[in-house]
Amino acid sequence: MGINFKETDLIYPYFVVGGTGKKVKIKSFPDTFRYSVDRLLKDIENTGKLGLNKILLFGIPDAKDNLGSAAYGKGNIVSYAVSRIKREFPALIVMTDVCLCAYTAHGHCGILERDGRKIEQKGTLNALSKTALSHAEAGADWVAPSAMAKRQVSAIRHALDKNGYKKTKIMGYSAKFASNFYGPFRNAADSAPRSGDRSGYQLDYADLGSALKEIEDDVREGADMVMVKPALSYLDVIREAKLKSPLPLAAYNVSGEYAMVKYGAKQGLWDEKKIVFEIMSSIKRAGADFIITYHAKEIAGWLKEKDH
Ligand code: PBG
Repeated sequence: MGINFKETDLIYPYFVVGGTGKKVKIKSFPDTFRYSVDRLLKDIENTGKLGLNKILLFGIPDAKDNLGSAAYGKGNIVSYAVSRIKREFPALIVMTDVCLCAYTAHGHCGILERDGRKIEQKGTLNALSKTALSHAEAGADWVAPSAMAKRQVSAIRHALDKNGYKKTKIMGYSAKFASNFYGPFRNAADSAPRSGDRSGYQLDYADLGSALKEIEDDVREGADMVMVKPALSYLDVIREAKLKSPLPLAAYNVSGEYAMVKYGAKQGLWDEKKIVFEIMSSIKRAGADFIITYHAKEIAGWLKEKDH
């Protein structure tokens, strides 16, 4: 079968927590773990040996508050992890998720207005910029704002440039839909909204036009890569985005898509390797240059087998 992807097209997401000696299973998220930094470094060593060269980091803080301050406070979990990773693996391309949902007590992606319903624009952009800057200072190659706050890319670009981080790149989670496919991730990041949902800032899944507009906005605001998320139910969006945007395009094969494959394979419904190869090929065929996927380590292992 025609495999149209390679290891370096893949980006592997990691969840990092405080403490030491931790590699903890996540509910309803097969074969995926939360790592403390020491264990993370060990795992990254193997990931590198498999030929993967890009990771995307998500942090889970020890404590949450209404302002998400653990996302950007001094020594925050992601910047600590990035500095350790970069010291040991300078050539690894390290991308960081920039969002507040795992850090806010209410679980929304930004700081809320007094009424507790809407995202407060200025405070949110300020918090996201500080978060991104702390990751850049620690050595992140890419920061990836995923809060879907209006003008988040330009705010972060401005903050990075002003502080001498012109070379730090931005991957915009440009077309991020209010999707039902994020369930396992929310267990991993402990980031489900405690009330309401994300439909106020994430996209309506029936609306292609707004998705393309978000992509255009991120291109104009100075993103270096744009993204469509999720991937499988949105292959048409990936295609349109590839045709319309001049930038490299990432697609996020999200946690729910991954879990379906894993649970189906456990039930003997399909051969895991074969179905994963079909899925990756279809996402590439639609137009993605890079695929963020929890299958990445297994794929890299399979690609090393002689007769894949
Ligand atoms: C939120 C964020 C989400 C994911 C990545 N960043 C989900 C959400 O909106 O709750 C989901 C990724 C996945 O499901 O794998 N900032």
